Amino acid sequence: MSKGLGDCDMRRIDTKRKLIEAELERRRMRQRDADDLKVVEGVIDTPTLKAVYKLLNRGTLRALYGAVSTGKEANVYRGIDAQGKAIAVKIYRVTTAESDFMLEYIVGDPRFGRVRRRSRALITQWAMKEFKNLQRYHAARIRVPVPVDIQRNVLVMEFIGDAESGVPAPLLKDAELPSPVDTYNEIVDMIERGYRVAQLVHADLSEYNILWWDGPVFIDVSQAVLTGHDNATRYLYRDIQNISRFFRKLGVDTEEPEVIVQHIMSSGE
Ligand SMILES: Nc1ncnc2c1ncn2[C@@H]1O[C@H](COP(=O)(O)OP(=O)(O)OP(=O)(O)O)[C@@H](O)[C@H]1O
Ligand SMILES: [Mg+2]
Repeated sequence: MSKGLGDCDMRRIDTKRKLIEAELERRRMRQRDADDLKVVEGVIDTPTLKAVYKLLNRGTLRALYGAVSTGKEANVYRGIDAQGKAIAVKIYRVTTAESDFMLEYIVGDPRFGRVRRRSRALITQWAMKEFKNLQRYHAARIRVPVPVDIQRNVLVMEFIGDAESGVPAPLLKDAELPSPVDTYNEIVDMIERGYRVAQLVHADLSEYNILWWDGPVFIDVSQAVLTGHDNATRYLYRDIQNISRFFRKLGVDTEEPEVIVQHIMSSGE
């Protein structure tokens, strides 16, 4: 400590040092954030960015890269987790247009008693619904991306594909299936176990919401409903119809959807 400086000077210097450090830290943060979020800035709003920062700060995410997909209700990005492996980050867009559609699937779900009609709150619940549905499927050992973390409208889950290189798995519709009939049977089995064990109906199942990664993986489960939902049987029928249509085109001799629905609904009784 240099001689000749009084207490007052020391305090001033100390305060100044702290201010400079804080400013440097802010700049470092800005730089880091700018690097990590290059791709998403300008696409997502401030509350969403804050949610991403929280996931970065608590170590769920190390970085966020380009979009794997830009869909109608959400964008899916490739992130990097603490181990340096690829992870999928689904960011739900806050729009009002989809509210009515979402309400149809959320009203009547006992897990979401009070449905908030304000758009941002609804989208948060919608993301939480997907997170909980992923947990249910996963607990029932039905292959879905393993849910990792959620913050508001930002859901982090297992990356389906090559987590080292970050190349995502193909959709079922684009996959080269070694045996379509085996895959058909496996998917019908997943639907049945989904109903009986997870007590869920996917409600938007098709070759567009199943990934192929050494077997079928269900994705996009935000609209999945509990089997007690008023429309559960209708959705179950529709899911099976979509799957049957797809596999019939591949030459599989599929069972009548009615027969499968009957079988699923009567099993375990
Ligand atoms: N966990 C994951 N790992 C790898 N890729 C994924 C994962 N989840 C989603 N994807 C990719 O992102 C796309 C969109 O995901 P998802 O279907 O869940 O969202 P969406 O909003 O319904 O999109 P869309 O409106 O296009 O159907 C998928 O088709 C798939 O290619
Ligand atoms: Mg989808």
